Amino acid sequence: MVSRKAILLTGGLTLAGFAAAFVLAQPVQTVGILTSDDAEVIAVGQSIYADQCAACHGARLQGQPTWRIRGEDGLLPAPPHDATGHTWHHDDETLFTLTKYGLAGVIENAPPSGMPVYDGVLSDDEIIAVLSFIKSTWPSDIREHHDALNAQSE
Ligand code: HEC
Repeated sequence: MVSRKAILLTGGLTLAGFAAAFVLAQPVQTVGILTSDDAEVIAVGQSIYADQCAACHGARLQGQPTWRIRGEDGLLPAPPHDATGHTWHHDDETLFTLTKYGLAGVIENAPPSGMPVYDGVLSDDEIIAVLSFIKSTWPSDIREHHDALNAQSE
């Protein structure tokens, strides 16, 4: 005969299982998701940056020289990701969505853009890693400003 205690125990474990599955099934949080203090994530992000982003945004995150002026093809050159650009003016959610879905992901009727869409190319974790690397290169006052921006968006 199964004891009452055993039934309670099994019930408890099942509940714990449901709770764990629920936590895992939560959608990726897209605000305040960058972990620019995590050395492991930054190292992964740095190598993704070199492979996927540096060709346009520059090996030193300096962007293309005439990044403010639309080219003859009607497209804007790639902006810097360092302190001289405006990447840090956007909260985590915007940066994540822009990298995953391109400009069209964040602006309605977006103009044609040279920024590729990374959906299907990089996983969500890889996008978070590369953006965390970018953030890790900013001076501390800009990082603090960016943290405050994220807190406002929550
Ligand atoms: C083929 C060139 C190219 C590559 C490769 C590229 N980008 Fe871009 N990116 C652009 C251009 C061009 C823009 C400006 C978009 C516009 O306004 O049309 C841009 C804009 C951005 C912005 C918005 C910056 C801001 O200040 O508003 C982010 C964030 C960004 N890129 C992240 C990335 C990341 C991360 C990678 C690598 C995973 C990457 N980009 C790879 C060309 C590129």
